[in-house]
Amino acid sequence: MVTKESVFSKPFIDVNHETVRRLLNLSSPDDMAQLFQQAFRTKCRVVGSQIYIRGIVEFSNICEKNCFYCGIRKNNQEVERFLMPEDEIVAVSLQAHGKGFGSILLQSGERIDKTFTTMVERVIRRIKEESDGRIGITLSLGEQDRETYRRWFEAGAHRYLLRIETSNRRLYEKVHPKSHDYDIRLQCLKSLREIGYQVGSGVLIGMPGQTVDDLADDALFFRKIDLDMIGMGPYIIHSLTPLAKKVVNYDGHRQLNLGLKMIAVCRLLMPDINIAATTALQTLNPTGWEQGIHAGANVVMPNITPEKYRKEYNLYEGKNHPEESSDPMKYLQKLFDDIKEDIIPNQWGDSPHFKKRT
Ligand code: 5AD
Ligand code: SF4
Repeated sequence: MVTKESVFSKPFIDVNHETVRRLLNLSSPDDMAQLFQQAFRTKCRVVGSQIYIRGIVEFSNICEKNCFYCGIRKNNQEVERFLMPEDEIVAVSLQAHGKGFGSILLQSGERIDKTFTTMVERVIRRIKEESDGRIGITLSLGEQDRETYRRWFEAGAHRYLLRIETSNRRLYEKVHPKSHDYDIRLQCLKSLREIGYQVGSGVLIGMPGQTVDDLADDALFFRKIDLDMIGMGPYIIHSLTPLAKKVVNYDGHRQLNLGLKMIAVCRLLMPDINIAATTALQTLNPTGWEQGIHAGANVVMPNITPEKYRKEYNLYEGKNHPEESSDPMKYLQKLFDDIKEDIIPNQWGDSPHFKKRT
């Protein structure tokens, strides 16, 4: 069995758990504003006033897994499954590039069969070739064997997001079926890093059964495993999932604040990494992205999947917001003009941390 200690060799720098917990517990508007301001200043100092952007292509909702929180879990029979044709995935990516997206995120449900993994490899190669190597490709395609990760890396993908969902093994086991193995997920994160990807992870914030202590541990865990990127967001109910039945007194406002506090704490702990203001924040509040940036995030990832597929990629309720999706670049431009942050088009937007560590 693989233990945390054997997987991650970097020595653990003892940041006081109690301090992190206290920050996450702040509740008065003044205290929270101060925390966010400090994190935002840190972001401006270390990564500047630029916001990195990636267009997300959710190219298939077919998933072999059954995570208890997720709306597209295998056992949800209400979902109409789709896989975008290869040509369309490539075309959407190239179009996004034409509109100024220097970087795309290819995301789908988890499949490990050869038909799928070789198709993904072809798509990566084509996007690279047809854009003369200009499009940066991030993948979020779940747990795969090392060989598959390596092939995709060699084809041209250079960043990979794999959320740990929670660093608390017991909680992980409560929100997943028995067949979903926490140690395998740790092993995948380790393989990705060894292969040479910029590695991102994240957690679900405010799940039933999760405590603020767990979240403090999560933030320290991210630092311990020396991540390059974090993409995490508040848990949002999907009524056709087993976890929905465990929810008592769901409070969207509390979830949003907890999400923002996690961003701020992570920015303070890891000043030079990429931290995304995720779709879940924007789902809980129409100004979620701005609030995320003002709490220390430096990446936003609008959805660029063709409209016809979107309603079937409902990880949680309310995930689709057409207002920013019809012309994402225009929406972002206005958003960032308003808050005086800059988008520099056509950038990959690698994390300064990755540049330093390599
Ligand atoms: N609420 C918020 N995020 C969710 N995800 C899945 N289900 C939910 C939900 N109900 C997130 C998981 C996963 C990512 C693809 O979507 O963290 O890693
Ligand atoms: Fe599949 Fe990811 Fe949803 Fe889990 S969270 S059921 S792996 S799409």
